[in-house]
Amino acid sequence: MADLTTEFLGIRSPNPFWLASAPPTDKAYNVERAFEAGWGGVVWKTLGEAGPPVVNVNGPRYGAIWGADRRLLGLNNIELITDRDLELNLREMTEVKKRWPDRTIIASLMVPCEEEPWKAILARVAETGVDGVELNFGCPHGMSERGMGSAVGQVPEYIEMVARWCKQYSDLPVIVKLTPNITDIRYPARAAKAGGADAVSLINTVSSITAVDLDSFAPEPTIDGKGSHGGYCGPAVKPIALNMVAEIARDAETAGLPISGIGGITTWRDAAEYIALGCGNVQVCTAAMTYGFKIVQEMISGLSDYMDEKGFTSIEDFRGRAVPNVTDWQYLNLNYVTKARIDQDKCISCGRCHIACEDTSHQAITNMVDGKRHFEVIDAECVGCNLCVNVCPVEDCISMVELPAGEVDARTGQTVREDYANWTTHPNNPSARAAE
Ligand SMILES: Cc1cc2nc3c(=O)[nH]c(=O)nc-3n(C[C@H](O)[C@H](O)[C@H](O)COP(=O)(O)O)c2cc1C
Ligand code: SF4
Ligand code: SF4
Repeated sequence: MADLTTEFLGIRSPNPFWLASAPPTDKAYNVERAFEAGWGGVVWKTLGEAGPPVVNVNGPRYGAIWGADRRLLGLNNIELITDRDLELNLREMTEVKKRWPDRTIIASLMVPCEEEPWKAILARVAETGVDGVELNFGCPHGMSERGMGSAVGQVPEYIEMVARWCKQYSDLPVIVKLTPNITDIRYPARAAKAGGADAVSLINTVSSITAVDLDSFAPEPTIDGKGSHGGYCGPAVKPIALNMVAEIARDAETAGLPISGIGGITTWRDAAEYIALGCGNVQVCTAAMTYGFKIVQEMISGLSDYMDEKGFTSIEDFRGRAVPNVTDWQYLNLNYVTKARIDQDKCISCGRCHIACEDTSHQAITNMVDGKRHFEVIDAECVGCNLCVNVCPVEDCISMVELPAGEVDARTGQTVREDYANWTTHPNNPSARAAE
């Protein structure tokens, strides 16, 4: 059986599944039940400075987006960092780490962007015996207005400065948690590395307003007639996070920097995708909040089965395997030609592919043939965009099929070539012509 053990920054966990810093990790009662369920580690709910803790709203703190089956697709929150006393959190972290020495506990931290508060909290965290620290430079609401969270994560110079303090005042591994609310994720990642951080984790939540109540005309969640932007997470943000992870994994300046992948991970497959893009482990929040701690058991068994099937004995066997296959658009092979194919046995004649292709793509799917409802691809029009695949309600009913070299593409009249050619050398590319 595959070995799911991970050694992330030298921190050993029985599996790559950590709970992200959030409500599931905000107290010993939760963390211990998470460990009982099988989670390999947790990043404790973000700690703030000593003294009176922050205060959360007393009204609703979540907004959401659902699929047609009411399955939660995106969650928006306006919660702050821990609103429990620092001493209580530190005491519980110490006790839980003692009771669960084989599991990882990381302290997530957010204090003002000044040297003394960071020095002070790092000293306190060191006493707990936890395995590392994660710097929360990601929270986009409530804390950012106080000059913390994403207000720091959006300024690479601040990231570098704080990471350096943390390496100076702590022997623990330092993970910098990045905000996605930035134009180019490579800059904060490079700054984290320049400051000496051992790893980055991403993503924290995306600034969002999930809905506006059309009776009260206020954003949701609504607190006494007003709402503010929150942080978006859950399955809806996974594509954003995967792209950012890939950007960091293939950037020459940060290549090799350990990454903890976060964002919408709900199944083993999601986790495997993050690992394939280079992540050494993954963190989960919304899935645990939606389905409970035991969801990790399916993640563990699913990942293990997949690895067995593929002949991977450890996470390292496939970590980063997809990174070389992420490229820029101009390097995609323009000689690769596909056509849509409809499996007539599976087709339920709903007509969605026809409408989509007719109205918004290339008028390449019939709806009537010989006076009968019939859906078939017209090769002479099909550009191979695969919109029809994505709108068809029947799984595997439409597939994209590659035309073999030597065959004539009925649309262009050109013979499909075996060799690879991209935009950089295409005759229509003005830059390619200029280079000649
Ligand atoms: C209610 C809530 C509270 C959160 N609080 C924190 C926090 O205190 N510190 C932090 O670093 N991230 C916090 N997060 C962000 C999560 O750790 C995680 O980065 C984000 O939810 C994306 O992962 P997911 O799609 O699996 O939920 C919070 C998320 C939610 C939903
Ligand atoms: S692949 Fe695109 S162009 Fe071809 S049939 Fe489907 S929707 Fe139309
Ligand atoms: S969308 Fe799918 S099921 Fe519906 S007509 Fe097209 S191929 Fe058939």
